This record gives sequence, C-alpha cells and structure tokens, in this order.
Amino acid sequence: MAQTQEKRLMPPTKITELLEAKWANQVLKTALELNVFSELKNGALSWQDLSCRLALDQRGAKLLLDCLVALEFLAKKDEKYSLTKISELYLVSDSQLFLGKYILAKDDVELNWQQLTKAMRTGEPVCQVNQDSKAEEFFPQLASSIFPLNFTTAQMVADALGANKMPSPVRILDLAAGSAVWSIPFAQANPHVTVDALDFPAVLNVTASFAGKYGVADRYTYLSGNWRNVPLENSVYDLVILGHILHSEGKEMSRQLLAACAGALKSGGRLIIAEFIASEQKTGPSFPCLFALNMFLATTAGCVFSLAELEEMLSQSGFEQVERLELPFWGSQAPVVTAIKS
Ligand SMILES: C[S@@+](CC[C@H](N)C(=O)[O-])C[C@H]1O[C@@H](n2cnc3c(N)ncnc32)[C@H](O)[C@@H]1O
Repeated sequence: MAQTQEKRLMPPTKITELLEAKWANQVLKTALELNVFSELKNGALSWQDLSCRLALDQRGAKLLLDCLVALEFLAKKDEKYSLTKISELYLVSDSQLFLGKYILAKDDVELNWQQLTKAMRTGEPVCQVNQDSKAEEFFPQLASSIFPLNFTTAQMVADALGANKMPSPVRILDLAAGSAVWSIPFAQANPHVTVDALDFPAVLNVTASFAGKYGVADRYTYLSGNWRNVPLENSVYDLVILGHILHSEGKEMSRQLLAACAGALKSGGRLIIAEFIASEQKTGPSFPCLFALNMFLATTAGCVFSLAELEEMLSQSGFEQVERLELPFWGSQAPVVTAIKS
C-alpha cells in the first residue's frame, strides 16, 4: 500500500551514496591495476576469456566486470564485455589521454586529505605547494598527470574563440603553463600562433615534452622561473592564459597576477582563465567547495573564486567584457572565463 513520504523519516541514502563511492573508486583502481580496459581495446570478450587472459579468479572477475557495467565503464551484450566511450578514451593505457597514472598515483594530495581533521584544528596547511622548493618537486609530476583532465576542454576553448581564424601573427603567453594543455590546441589550430610558456625550470621540461608530443614544439619558447620574478614584455601578447594558477595564489596575489597579465596584453587582447568556479555563496557546486579545502590543506591563502569575485578583480585590473564560456558537455558549469584588456 502506498505511504505518504511526509510522515516517514528519511533513509540515509545521501550518506550511503558517499560510502559507496569509495568502493566504486577501488573498483576502478583494481580494473586499471589488472589491465581490464587495455585488454578489451581490440574488441569484446566474455568473462571466461578475460579472466583467463588476465589470470583472474573467475567468480571474482565476473563480479568485477558486471560492476564496471553498472558504473558505465563497460558495456555488456550477448555475455561479452566491451569498452564504453569514456573508458576507451581515458582508461586504455596507450591512449594519449590515459588517466590511469593520475588515478593510481599515491601522491601527496591523498596524504594531505588524510590530515584534514588536524588542519581544521591548527589552521595550518599540512604542506605548501607554492613555495619554490616544494613546487619544483611537486608540480612536474602533477602538471603532466592532469593533462588528460583538461585537454578536451582546452580544445573546446580554442574552437569557441575561433583559434583557426585569428589574424596572424598570434602571440600567446601561457603563464604557469604546466603541460601547456591550454595553449597546445591554439598552436595546433593555427600555424601563426607562437607561445611563450612560463613556469618553474623543472616543469618546463614537461612543457617542452608535451609541445613535442603534439607537434608544436618549434613554436614554443620558455620563460623560466617564479612569475613574481620573471619580467614580462609590455603590451605584446594577443592572448594570456592562466590555467589553474589563481586558486593556489589566493585573492591578493591573484590581483597582482591579473595586473601583470594586463600589462603584458595588447589593448583588446584576451585573458583566458581556467578555474573551478564556485557559486556566489561558495556553497556549491560540490567540486569547487572540495577544491577550496584542498587549497586550505596545501597553501596559506589558496581559494576558489565565484564569478562575481573574478569580475570584480578583473575590472579593477583593467579588463572588460568578462564572460564565462559556454562549452559542450559542461552545461552552465564551464570552468573557463575570458576577459578583454580595455
Ligand atoms: C595546477 S598546475 C596547472 C598547469 C596548467 N596550466 C594546467 O592547467 O594544467 C599549476 C602550475 O603553475 C605553476 N606555478 C605555480 N606557482 C608558480 C609560480 N609562482 N610561478 C610560475 N609557475 C607557477 C606550477 O609549476 C604548475 O605547472
């Protein structure tokens, strides 16, 4: 018999979903460790064949594969398992966008999160990623492993801004370039694009290797060091890119960085900011809120920004026409804001 919901106490579904996500996370890691996705890259296999090829226990293998179907990382038809679009792109080890290294990394970030309770009591970061010595150690690995997270979105940004039709020559400054993920699609779309990539010396090796891998190395030059100390040319760039750097700088240093970008851009030039953008109250969406805590754990001033905060900071630094880009797949949550130097 149907019962009215108002009279009942709610079940703890919201909580059990979170606990479940931890198990799902381990299922993904185990499937990567066992090469399940890579083994399926040449076509669908039955659970018997797959468990034989990977030397797995048959009962366990069938349960794991069915679970991967439930999580939409595999499809199942006529008792055979095959890759889905997302697993083909990100979970097969020889894909250019393989995310396995990032997913399986036993990195500092995980250790930081284990100390969240302590940090809440002390108010102190448990490590400081943006101090030069730590940055040189931490960022080369991070910058390279996060490339697949952003490359498809960076391609959409280059498309949305008409990179292939920009009047030549186009000079880009990719500041805190990391793997150069945000500038490579511009260089690939337009042979008249040249890029100055700025980052710490150890990270620039990573930048150069990605520029080489994507066939644009001949149009990259490098500005080595902490941006605070690297002199920038005045009014020469058509585009300046700040990919995921403002959040580790915090609000006050970000104002200085935006002013430096305004100085380097030509009048009418464009600034591109990739960031995790929070709502005005900073109470959602969940990922920017989690990322704000990630910055609390790893910096003294790092934070996430709302769109209104970015607008205010940008207009104070001499920018106008601030716009959050509309990009495929992202709905209203696209992580990229652009502005024009007045
Ligand atoms: C989160 S990574 C982002 C890299 C890349 N832009 C991206 O979006 O994938 C931050 C980058 O900023 C660089 N970085 C951090 N602080 C910096 C500073 N003070 N000067 C120059 N680069 C810095 C790091 O080395 C790292 O490559």
